[in-house]
Amino acid sequence: MFSKYKKTGGVAASKPAKDSATVTPISALKPPVVPVAASMRKASQPAAAAPVDKEVKRKQRMGEIKLELHRALLDNLNLAALEHATEQDLRQEINAIASEILAEKSIVLGREDRLQLNSELYDEVTGLGPLETLLKDESVNDILVNGPQQIFVERAGKLQLTDVTFKDEKHLLRIIDKIVSAVGRRVDESNPYVDARLSDGSRFNAMVPPVAVDGSLVSIRKFKKDKLGIDDLVQFGAFTEEMAAYLQAAVATRLNIIVSGGTGSGKTTTLNALSSFIDNAERILTIEDTAELQLQQTHVGRMESRPPNVEGKGEVSPRDCLKNALRMRPDRIIVGETRGEEVIDMLQAMNTGHDGSMTTIHANSARDGVSRLENMIAMAGIEMPLKAVRSQISSAVNLIVQASRLQDGSRRMTSITEITGMEGDVISMQEIFRYQRVGLTPDNKIIGHFTATGVRSHYAERFRMWGYDLPSSIYEPIAAQ
Ligand SMILES: Nc1ncnc2c1ncn2[C@@H]1O[C@H](COP(=O)(O)OP(=O)(O)OP(=O)(O)O)[C@@H](O)[C@H]1O
Ligand SMILES: [Mg+2]
Repeated sequence: MFSKYKKTGGVAASKPAKDSATVTPISALKPPVVPVAASMRKASQPAAAAPVDKEVKRKQRMGEIKLELHRALLDNLNLAALEHATEQDLRQEINAIASEILAEKSIVLGREDRLQLNSELYDEVTGLGPLETLLKDESVNDILVNGPQQIFVERAGKLQLTDVTFKDEKHLLRIIDKIVSAVGRRVDESNPYVDARLSDGSRFNAMVPPVAVDGSLVSIRKFKKDKLGIDDLVQFGAFTEEMAAYLQAAVATRLNIIVSGGTGSGKTTTLNALSSFIDNAERILTIEDTAELQLQQTHVGRMESRPPNVEGKGEVSPRDCLKNALRMRPDRIIVGETRGEEVIDMLQAMNTGHDGSMTTIHANSARDGVSRLENMIAMAGIEMPLKAVRSQISSAVNLIVQASRLQDGSRRMTSITEITGMEGDVISMQEIFRYQRVGLTPDNKIIGHFTATGVRSHYAERFRMWGYDLPSSIYEPIAAQ
């Protein structure tokens, strides 16, 4: 069975790997060097750093072995046949080749180390090497690589340094190259950054040296198959049932909604959850840079914009998609993120019969969000007096929902604000719900609660006419406990 995936012509590992000169031979590894701090201690005191040092050495040794085995594997495996191999066959094949090479080099490993090595080799050959374990870890939301030796993950809103590393920059670059070449793109000195989507749907961005100064930078937003729904978000304390009832009325009665928030604050998650309130009979078109939304409705057309290719051609901008979408008879348009000139078409769509459309923007508050829209319009080169710009915005946008990642890592909808019109030159707004912070626990968890502001919705009558007769009690403020 093994020969199926092997290159013909025997085990290439018996000949030295081409660049084996760069690999420290396993047998030549020196005994652990005692750190200076430890060697200065009295002999009677156990050196506390020793176990750590041993572990580091062990990892280093495993890294060396893995690298050598990986090279040998690539020499031995018939990569073309891999595509058709079952996982079980491939794992067995890798284990067998690894055993042969280890025996040949007289390297003896414990059972645990062997199992780990085999699984890491499998990840190297088929997947994204060291990143594979993090991609499989359900609790990880983001993976952030700052050069080969430093990989952070985000769990529950908090960044943590992992002990996962790449062997060196070359290893990291090889994995980046594997990802981007799979989507027909290239990354090198002349195209130093790239966006891609991993095969599991995760969003991927990489920037390589020399623009990335200390080694390649990689950011991955993991794709969640089970997107957080309204119920999950209420249960996690992202917002309350009352706020959910209000949002349901707002979406169902086709208010135009902007989800505003900082990076990683939960904008896309909120947008996705809000979309669940759209009637199944409606035709929805979505436009994203990287398709992340997972709408539950039957009638959904998904579009993904495209950056220019290596020759600088073939770009399909979000604006191109949006313009085209308007000719595709949508009931609603959902734009994953508005950040450039597409703002003009988005506002026009919202103003001209595609009400119930939604998008997200990067901003820290509803007011800030409106300024962002104004700036985007100005940057798009539209010469319009500020008052006219504001009046466009105020008649297009009905609601701004603010998503925030708070300092304790929790993600909450910190404000729901309605745009009610213009007063003179100023856009008038009223906040309906907010997250009221009251303090911090000793372990730095935020204490706070959601409350209505006491202001009745500007759209209450509209809600009632459409059959969403929200009780006036949901607008009553909740006193702090
Ligand atoms: N209320 C929540 N509770 C727990 N996890 C959440 C919550 N909201 C979002 N998340 C998780 O946080 C991560 C970031 O969320 P999301 O992609 O929605 O953020 P974003 O604001 O769109 O980010 P970006 O600015 O990078 O596009 C995701 O992994 C998501 O599953
Ligand atoms: Mg997003």
